Amino acid sequence: MRSLIDITDFSVEELQSLMDTACHIIENPARYADACKGKKLATLFFEPSTRTRLSFEAAMLELGGSVIGFSEASSSSASKGESMADTAKILSCYADIMAIRHPKEGAPYVAAKNASIPVINAGDGGHCHPTQTLADLLTIYRENGRLSNITVGCCGDLKYGRTVHSLLAALSRYENVKVILISPEELKLPGFVRKEVLEKCGMEYVETTSLETAIPELDVLYMTRIQRERFDDPAVYERLKDSYILDTEKMKAAKETMRVLHPLPRVNEISVKVDEDPRAAYFRQALNGKYMRMALILKLLADAADGKQMTEPEDVLVDTLKCTNPRCISSTEQELPHIFKCMDRENGIYRCIYCEAKKKL
Ligand code: NCD
Repeated sequence: MRSLIDITDFSVEELQSLMDTACHIIENPARYADACKGKKLATLFFEPSTRTRLSFEAAMLELGGSVIGFSEASSSSASKGESMADTAKILSCYADIMAIRHPKEGAPYVAAKNASIPVINAGDGGHCHPTQTLADLLTIYRENGRLSNITVGCCGDLKYGRTVHSLLAALSRYENVKVILISPEELKLPGFVRKEVLEKCGMEYVETTSLETAIPELDVLYMTRIQRERFDDPAVYERLKDSYILDTEKMKAAKETMRVLHPLPRVNEISVKVDEDPRAAYFRQALNGKYMRMALILKLLADAADGKQMTEPEDVLVDTLKCTNPRCISSTEQELPHIFKCMDRENGIYRCIYCEAKKKL
């Protein structure tokens, strides 16, 4: 079944078509009021969420469909030890499409492999978050008028911030996008994004620790919070939590046309005074997220009706290498096969199919 696990599951043409649908919905909401009548969305949230879960639910309700689900792991059978595969099989009996957020990287992929309905990754650990990227792309498209020929600064926790990983994977497919990666040394972008995304497609990027020096150059400033829940050592979080604070003073150095995005929630990395600046686009971005999720639900249900399937990597190793990433779904679900896809045959480089951790053969 066609699902959305990683943003690169969709082509640039498909992304554009989703944005066109979203813009059409914005202008003609009444036309879509019954588009999903009789259909059910299941929201399986094993991790906290406000915007993603509720915007999915609002999206389905505005399409005339209905919603079932849970908002914390403790209220599901996962707390009794049920596997992701079994949960996905069960939900396939009750719903037409499902959205999953999970702390383990690769959990939505496991669900998609076992479900007979489309699965949407609503965030898996520190790995990726493709539907936030849909909101981000529509925001840049509507606010800046283009997705090519732009300089985008990503600031904050680039190590654990899954929204940045997915956004960069999407932007790497547009022309002439330059990226400035602004983070403390300890929270730099992980190798699976730097090597497999930026370097593979030859995207121009710079790494820096200074927001002040980067800001004048930017068309988009993508702020993120430091991801407290993903730190093993709370003392490291305490030391890094206030690394960047965007305030009205720093905004003075930015272009008049620059836009500030943030997937939210914000902790204190953007001063509330910046909200009054017309360049602050983060609340509009949250609204765009609902429209893109409406467009996504319509697309995946239509693809399912057409019998479209997920594309799978061909060159894989099964149970030859073992993933040792403690955040990978294969670390908790003992019976899952350890599957690695080949990235570079000559040098024996493989990546875990669930979490993209690298191994050498
Ligand atoms: C993001 C997430 O969950 O990764 N939030 C969201 O979906 N809007 C960002 C975050 O939690 O920092």
